[in-house]
Formats: sequence, C-alpha cells, structure tokens
Amino acid sequence: MKTRKTVMMFALGMAAATAFSAQRDEPIQPLVAPVVKEPAKVELGKKLFFDPRLSRSGAISCNSCHNLAMGGSDNLKSSIGHSWQEGSINSPTVLNASLSIAQFWDGRAADLRAQAGGPIANPVEMASTHEKAIEVLSSIPGYVAEFKAVFGRDGIDIGRITEAIAAFEETLVTPDSRFDRWLQGDDSALGKRELAGYDLFKNSGCVACHNGAAVGGNSFQKMGLFESYKTANAATGREGVTGKDADRFNFKVPTLRNVELTYPYFHDGEAATLEQAVETMGRLQLGRKFSAQEIGDIVAFLKTLTGKQPTLDLPHLPPSSNSTPTPQPFVKK
Ligand code: HEC
Ligand code: HEC
Repeated sequence: MKTRKTVMMFALGMAAATAFSAQRDEPIQPLVAPVVKEPAKVELGKKLFFDPRLSRSGAISCNSCHNLAMGGSDNLKSSIGHSWQEGSINSPTVLNASLSIAQFWDGRAADLRAQAGGPIANPVEMASTHEKAIEVLSSIPGYVAEFKAVFGRDGIDIGRITEAIAAFEETLVTPDSRFDRWLQGDDSALGKRELAGYDLFKNSGCVACHNGAAVGGNSFQKMGLFESYKTANAATGREGVTGKDADRFNFKVPTLRNVELTYPYFHDGEAATLEQAVETMGRLQLGRKFSAQEIGDIVAFLKTLTGKQPTLDLPHLPPSSNSTPTPQPFVKK
C-alpha cells in the first residue's frame, strides 16, 4: 500500500514535471506574456498612443495606422497620413514589435524608443514637430501632472514621450495562440491540416527566415532570392541604411504572429491575401512552386499564430486647456 502510494506520487510528480517541461523542441518558441514593471508609465504611453493631438491635424494618432482593434495595423496597402497623403510603404503591426532586432522595414530605428519620435514629425504621417508635440502636451494640465508622477520630476520632453510610448508598446505581446499551446505540449491544439502546414513550413525552408518566438523579426533578408521581386514601390530596404549594395532589397523579415489579421502583405502591400503571399514566398524565396493544397495547408498553419489580442480599457485622455494650440486639420504641408 505504502509502496503503491509512493509510486503514484512519483508518477504524479513525473506528470507534473512533464507538463512543465513538455515544450517541444522547435525552431519557433511560444510567446511569453510580458511582465509590466512600470504600470503608470505604460498607462501614460497608452494615452499617448491613442492621442490624436500629437498630430498637426488633431485627428491622427498612432492607433490610426496601428489599430489595436485590427491586429495593430491599418489593413491598407499604404497608410493615409496628414491631409490624406498616401504613405510610401505598408504599415507593419505594432503587436510583438518589441521582439524585433530593429524597427521599420529597413531597420533604421534601433528600438521602439528611437522609432516613436519618427511618425510625430513625419510630414506624410502626423506632420507635427517634436517642439509642437511638447507644446501641446505641456498645455494640458492632466498630462503635466501625469508626466511628473511617472518620471518623478516636472517637464515633458521627447525622450519621456517616446519612453512612455515604448513602455506601452512592450506590453503588446500576444501569447496563447493555438500554435503556442501546441508548442507547450497540447496535442489537441492543432488539427491535421494545420500540422501538415507546419511540417511544410519547416521542411520547405520557411523557418530559415521566419523563426524564433516572433516567427520572424530577427534578421534582414533579400526579398527575391530565386526570382527577383517586381514592384512599383520605390523602397530599396536595408541599403538605404547601410549604403551597401549587398543590402539592396533586404528587408526585415516580418513577424508572422497574427498574420491572419495584418493583411495586405509585403512592404508594398501588394499581396492581398495570405494565399498570394505564401505562393510568392515559395517561388521567390525557396524556388518552389506549391500546389493549391500545399498553400492551403500553410495558410491553415499561419492562422494558428493568431494570439490573445491586447484587451485594453479605452484610455480617457485629459482635456485640452484654453492655451492648447488649435489643431490644423486642413492645413496642407
Ligand atoms: C500615417 C500612418 C502612421 C502613423 C500615424 C503612425 N505610424 Fe507607425 N508606421 C507606419 C508605417 C507606414 C510604418 C513603416 C515605415 C517604414 O518601415 O519605413 C510604421 C512603422 C512603425 C513601427 C515599426 C514596426 C516594425 O515592425 O518595424 C512601429 C513600432 C510604429 N510604427 C509605431 C508607431 C507609433 C508609436 C506611432 C505614434 C507615435 C505611429 N507608429 C504612428 C504608419 C504610421
Ligand atoms: C530567405 C528568407 C525568407 C524565406 C525562406 C521565407 N521568407 Fe517570408 N518573408 C521574408 C521577407 C524578407 C519578407 C518581407 C518581404 C517584403 O515585404 O518585401 C517576408 C514576408 C512574408 C510574409 C508577409 C508578411 C507581412 O506581414 O507582410 C509572409 C506571409 C511570409 N513571408 C511567409 C513565408 C512562408 C510561408 C515561407 C515559406 C514558403 C517564407 N515566408 C519563406 C523572408 C523569407
């Protein structure tokens, strides 16, 4: 009896240990929910992310082009900026962006902080200036008090603005996708077709570039290895940053997390559907022509990468004051 109990306890212990360490050894790792260390800074960053007063028009916020109700993107080929200007490149998702080696398609910003100052002053995006953004925020008593509470001292500058926005963006990680549950040992999390798709994704070579926890985001690679990519878009990728010929048409490999939500695809937004994107990837990056069945399998797998979307309480933005500069929605620039 005693032995039996010991054996049972041993077996239970084993089961617990297995459940804990059952993570499969795969080229893709599960996403880990972020630990929020500075909730007040995150909350301030969330307000700034949703605040259209950071734009010249008073109408465009970060969320306009990185809509957190739509996978952190705008689902447009290229974004609409100040005065309805046409953006030059597809807007990538902000979900899981904190996991990337660098920001932007060409990696010209080292991290989220360096990135966040860009759109505010970009004439075809929010079309403001850092000085103007600081002036606007400093005229809003609610922000003055909140910046002081978060940073411990009076004063609003671009460093603090971008630090708060980045702290918020770091929370935009999407764990607990069905694929993650499978990676963690839950055999029932994926169906047959999805598993077949993952097999193809691995064995045909997609994982050479799309790997790690973000299923991408960790290297720059040539778009068009076996065949060149034809596009009317003027972007030349990493070359613009390094000045090296060899980097021509190298782009940051996008994360495939939540890719079901972030259509259309590629830096020029020319692939309207996932099927089209997968077909192009097979042909251009692997020299392989997939059958419709194979494409369907891979797409089925890709859709299992949709994770738990951030659930946010809508931030309530502090009201402007009598001295807040008037927005200029109809001034062209
Ligand atoms: C008018 C649309 C627009 C607005 C507004 C906008 N963005 Fe973007 N965002 C883009 C586009 C387009 C890109 C890609 C640009 C590139 O790679 O050259 C981008 C890239 C990014 C990236 C890099 C993602 C990656 O994977 O490389 C982050 C992070 C980001 N934006 C955050 C923000 C934040 C924070 C704000 C507000 C301060 C903001 N964006 C405002 C359109 C916009
Ligand atoms: C040699 C590296 C490489 C390989 C191999 C590769 N990709 Fe890509 N993938 C990229 C790059 C780089 C981009 C961005 C290209 C661009 O936008 O111009 C991309 C973009 C994508 C996109 C669009 C994502 C978005 O948000 O726009 C999908 C989907 C995709 N790849 C799936 C796949 C699949 C499926 C395979 C295997 C059949 C594959 N990739 C193989 C490098 C690679």
